[in-house]
This record gives sequence, C-alpha cells and structure tokens, in this order.
Amino acid sequence: MGIKITIIGSGNVGATCASLLANKNLVETIVLIDIKQRISKGKSLDISQMNSIYGLNTNIIGTENYEKSVNSEIVIITCGVTRKPGMNRDDLLKINSDIIHSVVKKSIFFSPNAKFIIVSNPLDVMSYVSYMTAKINPYRIIGMAGILDTSRYRFFLSKKLNISSYNIQSLLLGSHGDTMVPLYRYTTISGIPIKEFLSEKENDEIINKTKKGGENIVDCLGTSAWMAPAASIVEMVESILKNDKKIFSCSVFLKGEYNLSELYLGVPIILGKNGVDKIIELKLNCKEKKLLENSANHVKKMIKKLSINY
Ligand SMILES: NC(=O)c1ccc[n+]([C@@H]2O[C@H](COP(=O)([O-])OP(=O)(O)OC[C@H]3O[C@@H](n4cnc5c(N)ncnc54)[C@H](O)[C@@H]3O)[C@@H](O)[C@H]2O)c1
Repeated sequence: MGIKITIIGSGNVGATCASLLANKNLVETIVLIDIKQRISKGKSLDISQMNSIYGLNTNIIGTENYEKSVNSEIVIITCGVTRKPGMNRDDLLKINSDIIHSVVKKSIFFSPNAKFIIVSNPLDVMSYVSYMTAKINPYRIIGMAGILDTSRYRFFLSKKLNISSYNIQSLLLGSHGDTMVPLYRYTTISGIPIKEFLSEKENDEIINKTKKGGENIVDCLGTSAWMAPAASIVEMVESILKNDKKIFSCSVFLKGEYNLSELYLGVPIILGKNGVDKIIELKLNCKEKKLLENSANHVKKMIKKLSINY
C-alpha cells in the first residue's frame, strides 16, 4: 500500500502544503481534514484538477472524517486560529491548545504509528500539547519553525550581501518568536565564515528583520504567511519519507540537552524516517546560552499558563 499523509487544517498553510506535496509526487494519498468540510472538499478538488496538467498521480481526499486518515505515515497539524495585525503568536495560546488537543487525540487513534509535524502557533507550546496528548515517543512529534525562520534570515542576508540565499548555511535556535537565538558563529556562506562578510553587529540588524519577518507579512495580508511555511513543512516530510537525515532546526522535546528539559524548543536535529534521529548539541558561548535560556523561560511560562492536565 502506498504512503498516506494527513494534513489537519485545510486553510492557507494546510492547502498550500498539500499542493506542494502533490507536486513532488512523493505520496500516494493526501487527506485534507478541516472542521469546515466544504473547504477541505473544495481545496482537494482544486489541487486534484492540477494533476492532469503536471502529470501527477497523488490522490487527494478532502473530508472532516478522521477515519479516512487511518494509518497515515505523517500527520501535519496546521489547524486553528492565525494571528491578525497587532497580535503576537502567544495570543493564540488558549484557543489553539484546545483545538490541537482535540485533533491530535483523534489523529493518534487512527494513526498510532504516525510521525507528527506541528505547525500551529504558538509553535513550541502546541508541539508540547501534542506530545502530552498523544503520549508517544516525543521524537515522533516535531515542530516546524526553524526552517522557516532560517529561510527568512537567509533571504534578508542575501539581500544585504547581494548573493544567492541558496549559498547561505545557518541555524537559529530557541522559540519561534521574538526570543529566537541567532548563531552568528555557525553561519557560513558556501563554507566561508560569515565574519568575512559582515560584523556581528551588522548581523544583529538582519536578525531583527528576521524576527519581524512574520509580522510584516501579517501587516500586509491581515493573516500570517503560508507559502514559505508550507515549503518548510515539505522539506521535513521529504527528509522523513526518504530517510534523508538532513540537519534542520526544529522544535523538539528536550531531555537535558542544552541543560533544558520537559519542553519543546528549537535546536538542530537530524531528521530521518523515525522522526528525530539525533539532537545535535552545540557548544554555546555565554551570550548564546543566556539567549537560549531566556527563550526556554518564555516557553515554560506559557506551558505553566495552560496548566495541562491530560
Ligand atoms: N510554525 C510556523 O512557522 C507557522 C507559519 C505560519 C502559520 N502558522 C500557524 O499555522 C496555523 C494555521 O495557519 P493558516 O494560515 O493556515 O490559518 P487558516 O485560518 O488559513 O487555516 C486554519 C484552518 O484550521 C481549521 N480549523 C479550525 N479548527 C479546527 C478543528 N478543530 N479541526 C480541524 N480544522 C480546524 C479552520 O477551519 C481553517 O480552515 C496558525 O496557528 C498559524 O499561526 C505557523
């Protein structure tokens, strides 16, 4: 039997992800689930009708029925509420945690062996809520944020230096939000350390732009971004399905790495067929350690606010 992927939430991120995935011809079936059944159905029909143009074969099912998701290899959680101008990601905490808890409960029932990619915000807390709900090996539940934040950083840096963003390698750690942690020392351009191109102070300006990257899009569109987020999810799906073992910054459950535990936070990992293959522990300097601690404290505060008891 071919590979099935389920995407919960057929909104901007979910439907775009389905479309990009279909274009890769990677899986046999994509199930798009939403509480608004007509949205799932309409989006699945639209994407399916693209198949004949590009010679694609993926079967796309739009539904509100979780039974259709049975035995999915990967479940991608993109449902919930998105931020509006003036809101930050943390403002979505309570409403999205109730939604995520209910959809993960249903998804794990039908796909007990699935890997989960969490996208809904506030990302690090929603990943934790998913783990507390599913009660499976946490390495099968991974939050997507670092790939997107890094791609925004690479974009702004490429504009500043007038070079291809493709040549920039970098990692951002910490929470998906204002407390993200830049790693200037670990950034290279085609293997050349970034210090050969710009100072740490100049890099900080790029980091500030990166932090505001999502907010700028919300201000323009009245809702959050979806194209680059969907592309970031597809990168993760591909690395899992092909067991590529690519290194990405993802939000994962920490068990003492970086002296942190019992929370989800962005760190570099190797991503393979079982989910997190390995967490890469970098030697951080004092400044980086402090920033990461600050980021972790922010996430812990939100987890405490929720007082999860499931
Ligand atoms: N991690 C990231 O980097 C990142 C990037 C972009 C967006 N996001 C987050 O992803 C989420 C989705 O964003 P979007 O732009 O696609 O929003 P959207 O409003 O376009 O889509 C959300 C969809 O979820 C559905 N939904 C709501 N409750 C549901 C439930 N109980 N069961 C099933 N479906 C339900 C809605 O009907 C809607 O179609 C938001 O929380 C957003 O903040 C995260």
